[in-house]
Amino acid sequence: MQKKTVETSFTIYNFEELTASYQDLINKAKEQVVKAYAPYSGFHVGAAIELANGEIFAGSNQENSAYPSGLCAERVAMFYANAQFPDVPVKTIAIAAFTNGNFMPEPITPCGACRQVLLETEMRFEKDINILLYGTQSVYLIENVRQLLPLCFEKSSLQG
Ligand code: THU
Repeated sequence: MQKKTVETSFTIYNFEELTASYQDLINKAKEQVVKAYAPYSGFHVGAAIELANGEIFAGSNQENSAYPSGLCAERVAMFYANAQFPDVPVKTIAIAAFTNGNFMPEPITPCGACRQVLLETEMRFEKDINILLYGTQSVYLIENVRQLLPLCFEKSSLQG
């Protein structure tokens, strides 16, 4: 028997400590929460994506009365960006969540399905995607999607 431990590392910042471009992207994610369609959960999420060519795409969660048919903000923004610029790598994604009249004090982290989609884009372009998770008290900076999804299933897993 052998026991293994997988470590994930990330950095915690105050908003004011971030670079201006990270602050801008977070502000774009925050602006998106008002565009969420979240009548069932009341949980409004915004995501903003910066591509390597400087283009920015943003999205919000889109719910549905048939619950599983809805989509998280991260996937809305990522599919939107990839659909518009299929050959341009993603540099950074910023995520912010708003509920009960406030942004969350501590960041939320993307769900498993979104992590898998973010990973596909990171692998597709062989370029790290920086992930900024916004909270009013702390902002997490995660260097790449692999840190978010250890022991992942990816393209090479299909090769047996
Ligand atoms: N949601 C997101 O958009 N992103 C996340 O990272 C977590 C959850 C959405 C899905 C659903 O519309 C609502 O938040 C409650 O789960």
